[in-house]
Amino acid sequence: MKKDKDFIDGLIGRMTLSEKIGQLNLVTPGGETLTGTVVNTDVADKIRTGRIGGIFGVKSAEAVRVFQDLAQKTRLKIPLMFAEDVIHGQKTIFPLPLALAASWNMDLVRATARVAAQEAASIGIDQVYSPMVDVCRDPRWGRIAESPGEDPFLASRFAEAMVEGYQGTDLSRPDAVMACLKHFCGYGGGMGGRDYDAVDLSPTTLHDVILPPFVAGMRAGAGSIMASFNTLNGVPMHANRTVITELFRKRLGYDGLVVADYTGILELIAHGIASDRADAARLGLSAGVDMDMVSETYLETLEDSVKTGLIGEDEITAACRRVLDAKLKLGLFDDPYHRLDWGRAAQPILTAGNRQLAREAVAAATVVLKNEGNLLPLPAPDSGRIGGIALVGPFALDRVNMNGTWAVAGSPSTVVPIADGLREAVGNAVSVTTAKGANIVDETWLATRLNVHDWKDLSVVIDVRSPEAMIAEAVAAATAADVTVAVVGEAREYSGESSSRTDLSIPEPQKKLLRALKATGKPLVVVVLTGRPLALAEETLLADALLIAWFGGTEIGHGLADVLFGKAEPSGRLPATFPYCVGQVPVTYAHRPTGRPTPGRFQKFTSGYVDLPDEVAQNDGLYPFGFGLGYGNVAYGPPRANRTKLTGDDRLEVTLTVTNLGDRPTSETVQLYIGDPVASVSRPVKELKAFRKVALAARATEAVNFVITADDLDFSVAETVADLRRRSESGAFDIHIGPNSRDTQAVRVTWDEPQSRGKQS
Ligand code: NOJ
Repeated sequence: MKKDKDFIDGLIGRMTLSEKIGQLNLVTPGGETLTGTVVNTDVADKIRTGRIGGIFGVKSAEAVRVFQDLAQKTRLKIPLMFAEDVIHGQKTIFPLPLALAASWNMDLVRATARVAAQEAASIGIDQVYSPMVDVCRDPRWGRIAESPGEDPFLASRFAEAMVEGYQGTDLSRPDAVMACLKHFCGYGGGMGGRDYDAVDLSPTTLHDVILPPFVAGMRAGAGSIMASFNTLNGVPMHANRTVITELFRKRLGYDGLVVADYTGILELIAHGIASDRADAARLGLSAGVDMDMVSETYLETLEDSVKTGLIGEDEITAACRRVLDAKLKLGLFDDPYHRLDWGRAAQPILTAGNRQLAREAVAAATVVLKNEGNLLPLPAPDSGRIGGIALVGPFALDRVNMNGTWAVAGSPSTVVPIADGLREAVGNAVSVTTAKGANIVDETWLATRLNVHDWKDLSVVIDVRSPEAMIAEAVAAATAADVTVAVVGEAREYSGESSSRTDLSIPEPQKKLLRALKATGKPLVVVVLTGRPLALAEETLLADALLIAWFGGTEIGHGLADVLFGKAEPSGRLPATFPYCVGQVPVTYAHRPTGRPTPGRFQKFTSGYVDLPDEVAQNDGLYPFGFGLGYGNVAYGPPRANRTKLTGDDRLEVTLTVTNLGDRPTSETVQLYIGDPVASVSRPVKELKAFRKVALAARATEAVNFVITADDLDFSVAETVADLRRRSESGAFDIHIGPNSRDTQAVRVTWDEPQSRGKQS
C-alpha cells in the first residue's frame, strides 16, 4: 500500500529528537563545483547515525546508491533525498535560464525542464535547485544569467513552465523531480549589483515585482523554495520569519519545504544578527528554514537549545514533518531507489531527442539586434552565392565556455562547437577558415579568476601569440572570405555566482578585433556570447548583423548554424533591457514616471544624464525589453478595443492584425503592456500583461486577440512586507501592443470600479 500522511504521523511518533534534527541536515560531500568555502565531512558516518536528511552535489548513480544503502541500514530506514544544481539541463545542456526566458516560448521552456528532470532523475536526483526566479534589473549582478530577467510577468510564466516541466503531473513518478524556487527573496536587487549584498525594497515593489514569480511557481505546485543570501530591509532572509512564515506560508498558503542556501544559516553571524552558531540555528529554524544547507548549525546546536528551553521541540517536529512530507511526495518511502531503477532501464541521457530539443532552443533563444540590409540569413551554402566564411573570435572553436556558468554535470566533450556546427551546415560547398583573433581577456589575474571552476579544461587561455599577430591572422581570414562571423563575448564565469562586473563591455582585446574586422570592409556578423545584458553601443556600429546567442549549451554549434543559414528563425526577444552603458543601470522599461520626464535626449532639469550624447535614449537603454528581430518583416495594424468604457468585472477584448510582408515564414512575439496614467500612486509607465507567439507564413496576416480583465489592472498598496492588500482604481488605462516594450501603439479605455479578484501573479 502506498505510504500516506498517516504513515508520516506514525513515523514522527517513533523518532527521537536527534533523529528529527538529523532530517534537517542538508550536506554536500564536496566535489567538482562548489559554491562556498565550507564542505561537509564524515558524510557516510553521519548517514549511518541518522544525522543527515538530504545530500546535494552527488554526481553519479553509483554514489547515490551507496549513500542510500547506508540510510536504509539505519534504525528507521528514512530515505535520503538527493538534490542537485540542475539549472538549465543535467547532461544535455540547454541555453542558460536568461536565454530560455528570451525564447518567450513557455512550451519550449517546459520541455527543457522535462528533459532535465528525466536526465537528473535517472541518476537518482530527487530535487533540483531550480528554477531561479529572481527578477533582476541590474546586469552588473552576475546571477542575472540564471534569472528570467527584469519582468515579473515573464518571470512568472517562466516559473510555472519550469515547475510543470520538472515535476510533471505526479511528483511520485520516478522521472519527476521536485522543483525549488529560489532565491527567496529579493536577491536580484543587491546594492551596486554586488552578489550577496543588502537589498532594500518597498513593500509594494516586493509584492508587484519580486513575489509574483514565486507565487506563480507555488501555484504551479513547486515542492520547495530556497532562502536567499541577502538581507531584506535589514533582515537576512535566512532569519526572516515575517516573509517566509507569516507572509509566504500563512498568508499566501505555501505548504512545501524551505531549504537554506549554502551556509546561509551560519552567515547570520556575519550578517550581524546572531551571536553564535546556536543563535544562528535558532533564528533560522524560527524563521521557517527547514533544512540547514552545509553549515550544520542545526545538527550541532538544536538539541541543546531544546534542553535549555531556547526553542521548543514542536518547531523541530514541524520542520522535520515538512522534510518527510517532501520525501513522501517524491515516492521515496515507497521505494527509495525508484528513480535509479527507472533511469537504468530508460537511459534518457543525451538522447538524439534531447539534443534536438537543445538545438531548437538555441534558435528560439537567439536575439537578433541588428540585421542591416538583411545580411542574415546567409545565402544557402549550395546557392553559389557564398564561397568562404571567416569564423573568428576566441569562441569559434571553444567547447568549455559553451555550457555557461552553471552546468555542473554538463561536459565540454559533448558540446558541438560553433565551428563544427558551421562546417557541418556548409559541407564542401563553402570554406570555413577559423582564427582566434583575440584572447577573451588579456589580463592573467583576470583569467585566473575566470578559470576558478576549471579543474580539467580552462575556459580562458591566454595565447602565446601577441594580440597583434592574432588580429593579423583574423584579418587575413576575413579579407579572403565573403563574410566574417565573429564570435565574441564573456567567458562563462564572467557571469554567474560571485561574478558581478563594474563594466558591461565586451573585453577590450575582442573590441580591437572587431574594429580591425570592420576595417576589412567585409560584411560582419557579430555573435555575442553572454550571461548578462551587455552595453553594445560600439558593436552596434561595427556590426552589420548583431546577434545575442547567450551561452547555448550542448547544441550551440548546430543551433547557431541553423540561425545563420535561416534553417531556423531566431525568435528570441530580450528578457532584460540592454543598456547603453553601465551608468544607466539599474534599468527597466517598467520604471515609474518622474515629475520631470526625459524628452528623450539630455535637457537640463529633466531626468537623465548630462554625459550621454543626444542620439541615445536617456533612460531606456540601447535595446529595450522585449526587443528582437526576426527574418520576416512584420507590420502591426492598430489595436482595436471591443469597447472603450468598462465597469466592474467586464472583460476587454483588444484585437490587432500582424502581417508578414516578407517572403519567408516568421515567428512574431506580440506583446501587450498596460499603462495607468492617473492613479493614487505613480504607476510604472507600462507593465507587460500578456504576450503571444504567432507563427506567420510568408505574406500572411493573422489576427491576434487579447482578453483583459480587472485582474490585470490592480496593484499592491502594501504598507508592510506582509500586507497583501491590492487595489484596482477607476480611470483611464492605455493598452499598448507592439513588438517590444518601446515600439507600441496604444488604445485608451476607461474602467469604472474595476473588480479584480486580487490575484497576485
Ligand atoms: C549557492 C547558490 O546561491 C544556490 O543557488 C545553489 O543552489 C547552492 N549554492 C547549492 O549549490
